[in-house]
Amino acid sequence: MQPGLEGVVVAETVLSHAAPERGMLWVRGRPILDVVGLGYEGTVALLWEGFVGAGLTRAGMQQALGATRVRASKQTNGWLAIVGGRPLDEAIRIRLALLPDDIEPAAIPATLAVSIPAALRARAGAPAVAPDASLPLAADVLRMLHGAPPDAAQAKALDTYLAVMAESGMGPATFTARTVASTRASLTSAVLAAWCSFTGPLHGGAPGPTLDVLDAAAVADDLDLWLEQKLKSGERIAGFGHRVFRGNDPRAAALRAALEQMGASAGRLQFAAHLEAHLAAVLDRVKPGRRLPANVEIMAALLLDAVGIPREAFTAIFAIARSASWVAHALEQQNTGRMIRPASHYVGPAVE
Ligand code: COA
Repeated sequence: MQPGLEGVVVAETVLSHAAPERGMLWVRGRPILDVVGLGYEGTVALLWEGFVGAGLTRAGMQQALGATRVRASKQTNGWLAIVGGRPLDEAIRIRLALLPDDIEPAAIPATLAVSIPAALRARAGAPAVAPDASLPLAADVLRMLHGAPPDAAQAKALDTYLAVMAESGMGPATFTARTVASTRASLTSAVLAAWCSFTGPLHGGAPGPTLDVLDAAAVADDLDLWLEQKLKSGERIAGFGHRVFRGNDPRAAALRAALEQMGASAGRLQFAAHLEAHLAAVLDRVKPGRRLPANVEIMAALLLDAVGIPREAFTAIFAIARSASWVAHALEQQNTGRMIRPASHYVGPAVE
């Protein structure tokens, strides 16, 4: 038995491949750093090619996601009336549950893209801003959120984030999507289940708590003592550790470059490196042999914060990116025709 299925191969995929020891991740055979140039829409087209149609292009995907944002925005008020002031992650769970089974795949990221800004604005008593189908999704999300045309550098940075974070192999939510799809349940069910798996703080729920860690560490009187207490109490320090990328995550480098291009967060980038070095030193003392390098969520949290996304929305914005993967993996799994049904090892009372 492999606890947590670590290292267990559960699927064959054409979608991505990671070589963590070389700090490499390929999406459909392309190095992740090249994927940045495709933008979010180009990355979705790349992932969905052959699963959601053939000959998909970046421009075609931008059109499809724009048109579906406009359609999805027409259902936003009804949903907001149901969810009231619930936390955003709960509200998103309900929003996805309201989607019909025969949804077109583009409606999934598009629905998230219009729902998140609308819910955040409703909190502040502000009306939703209608989507602009002619814009790339990242720019439109910022426009709908802030009620004004976005700064070009911020729009580019969010676009890079969405492209870079779209596909990452067999994370728990992607595996969930594949499991649900393997029973021939609908794509909507697969994506809703993936979202539920995603929201946990060890997974897609990590970027908000990561920013909390950076903020709290920055004002700690004695950083080493603060870290030591956390480690001794068994607390997980968000933003550190990863099941696959144990340091040298190429996505972090891409996000860092996007932040640097924006000219933002220089002080916070420096502090993040300082925190990582202190954690390594404290680990040497408190848990010798354990390594917990910074994971991609530190750069992700700094980037999302720098483009003006409130931290309660970090997980939902991350899901816009990752839902592209859930769709592709769900459809790839369905194509295998084989239901996922693993076995368990019985350790209960003796049986005859
Ligand atoms: N802070 C403190 N301790 C941590 C830790 C962290 N961030 N990450 C792992 N550990 C501890 C584990 O508790 C475990 O301790 P134990 O052996 O005493 O039980 C040990 O380090 C080994 O854990 P490991 O096998 O490397 O972790 P994992 O593969 O099970 O978990 C994560 C990977 C990502 C879930 C884990 O590192 C984590 O919780 N990170 C914080 C949340 C986060 O940033 N998630 C986003 C990842 S992109």
